Amino acid sequence: MDRILIRGGNRLAGRLPISGAKNSALTLLPCALLTDEPLTLRNLPRLADVDSFGHLLNQLGVSTMIEGARPEDFGRVMTLRAGRVTSTEAPYDIVRKMRASILVLGPLLARAGQATVSLPGGCAIGNRPIDLHLKALEAFGAIIEITAGYVRASAPDGGLPGGSFTFPVVSVGATENAVMAAVLASGTCVLENAAREPEIVDLCKLLTAMGADIQGIGSDKLVITGKPRLHGATYRVMPDRIEAGSYACAAAITGGDVELVGAHVDDMQAVLSALREAGVEVGVERDIIRVTAHQKLRPLTISTAPFPAFPTDMQAQFMAMLTLADGASVLTETIFENRYMHVPELARMGADISVNGRTAVVRGVAGLTGAPVMATDLRASMSLILAGLAATGETQVNRVYHLDRGYERLEEKLSAAGADIERVSDG
Ligand code: EPZ
Repeated sequence: MDRILIRGGNRLAGRLPISGAKNSALTLLPCALLTDEPLTLRNLPRLADVDSFGHLLNQLGVSTMIEGARPEDFGRVMTLRAGRVTSTEAPYDIVRKMRASILVLGPLLARAGQATVSLPGGCAIGNRPIDLHLKALEAFGAIIEITAGYVRASAPDGGLPGGSFTFPVVSVGATENAVMAAVLASGTCVLENAAREPEIVDLCKLLTAMGADIQGIGSDKLVITGKPRLHGATYRVMPDRIEAGSYACAAAITGGDVELVGAHVDDMQAVLSALREAGVEVGVERDIIRVTAHQKLRPLTISTAPFPAFPTDMQAQFMAMLTLADGASVLTETIFENRYMHVPELARMGADISVNGRTAVVRGVAGLTGAPVMATDLRASMSLILAGLAATGETQVNRVYHLDRGYERLEEKLSAAGADIERVSDG
């Protein structure tokens, strides 16, 4: 397994290119199932999860072709084609490794009238049920059975008749599955209290480019009028707002001055406001966000919530940054029940954090000390990298495969901005 070594203390400076969004790519890829024509996705990030999703789609009969990516390029162009769906099953051994595989459920149901997808099971940050995915599909007329750890979904002859569903809680994945199922329904599907994350907007824009009829894009009410078929399209994946936010925290925690190139500011308002409240200077010019930290960080009180509020995927990164603030910060994680796995690892580096249920109190300390630490999940891993960038001495982050799921060529980007960071392979 690879490890990442960081010798902390360098202020970051320079430009950091932002890659395509992992959480958009993982919902755009299964859209290939919704048409027999080619779908070309540009700015697809080079990530382990994107590769895994491509392999799953291959098993379902989707051909995937990567176009001319030079080693030095960020992102790739992939053309996918589901001329025929040759299987409608997503097996346990794939789904357990990548829970986003559940996002083939809606498109398979829409295109093939049936789907058999393994229940994803929990993960490090929570048990992450899929009941809302299934309830939304049932509301649209799907027949759902759960047997032997698998969801078997089927549509009546002639396709999903349509219907209405109001989400009791906001769910990104359930909204995505429901929208992808609805676009080929024989009737109209209405979703209320739908997720409004930018990745949902990206999905709806791609589906519209493929010929879908979706009203209310960007709002919490989506009205989808099903079409008999969709056509192919060429589409550019949106930039990764969480990657951009993570690197903004890297500038903040190291007292640096960096330019994030290619991010969409509108996707990041809550994060950028929180940075400004912490005393970080944030300047915006076209698609460049300049993040400059001149002074000691001010403590914050943050509560995660669905978009447009502060994103749960940025909680761990802000916690790392706030370990060095001038006072006590209070973080409340309202989305997932176990998203503080980074706390004991940060504590090993000298952070002073106490957790009580969903709330963590982070008391600023004078400095952090490098140490060997263990990555447990994707965003927790990034919080350890951030702490290592600011710590005195060497930090060794183990199990970096977690990072490779969501950050494209992280050590290259950070070392180009002045970090003393390298990947060591135990292979
Ligand atoms: C997506 O996960 C993201 N993953 C997550 O990013 C992100 O943290 C999350 O949305 C929230 O923004 C991808 O897009 C691939 P949810 P998802 O359904 O769709 C509960 C990362 O680090 N819930 O919005 O699984 C659930 O348990 C990852 O990039 C149900 O109860 O999240 C959670 O408490 C981590 N029943 C809450 O809703 C359901 O059927 C929000 O989950 C579905 C969800």
